[in-house]
Amino acid sequence: MTAPAGPHEPTGIVVLVSGSGTNLQALIDAAADPAYGVRILAVGGDRAGITGLHRAGAAGIPAFVCRVEDHDSRAEWDAALTGRIGDHAPAFVVSAGFMKLLGPEVLGRWTVLNTHPALLPNFPGAHAVRDALAAGATETGCTVHVVDAGVDTGPVLAQARVAVAPDDTEASLHERIKAVEHPLLVEIVGRAAREGITVSDGKATIP
Ligand code: GRF
Repeated sequence: MTAPAGPHEPTGIVVLVSGSGTNLQALIDAAADPAYGVRILAVGGDRAGITGLHRAGAAGIPAFVCRVEDHDSRAEWDAALTGRIGDHAPAFVVSAGFMKLLGPEVLGRWTVLNTHPALLPNFPGAHAVRDALAAGATETGCTVHVVDAGVDTGPVLAQARVAVAPDDTEASLHERIKAVEHPLLVEIVGRAAREGITVSDGKATIP
């Protein structure tokens, strides 16, 4: 179990991003309230120059980049990322639109929460919104779950539903998903920070 911090001490997390970082921004905004109980110790990206890292900079949060291309193997990247995250000693890690599969070292050391833009187990993978539209789904949504070794297969903590409109494009649908994804991620990360999270036998619980 990741121990919750004391009543006056926020729980430190590291957030990983790959893109626009709107989920990160929702966490940054929530963490401005001391009652939320979260301190974002650092933000890590899998490439430089992304808006998510600029959001970290604007909020005065340390940022780092750890690129797969700069390492000889995925295993070396996994070890390097473990080191970069470990420098900040977080209680747990949040993957907020991080588009790389995390390796066994990171996953063995921390509980990692991920947000996914579909109702898992439906539409796992990198193109969940496009896949839901292509399948003719009338409803989709988002899922906050604990990351395991699979692709979007880890235990689900919470989900929110979104109706698909007949004229939806990938962009319009993703925008509406993000509108429910942000508050859901904020709620679950806050509860995990304040109350702790237990992962055992493929089940994840926040008391
Ligand atoms: C989110 O919808 C997340 O679920 C998905 O990618 C999107 C990232 O958006 N994996 P942002 O970078 O937080 O704006």
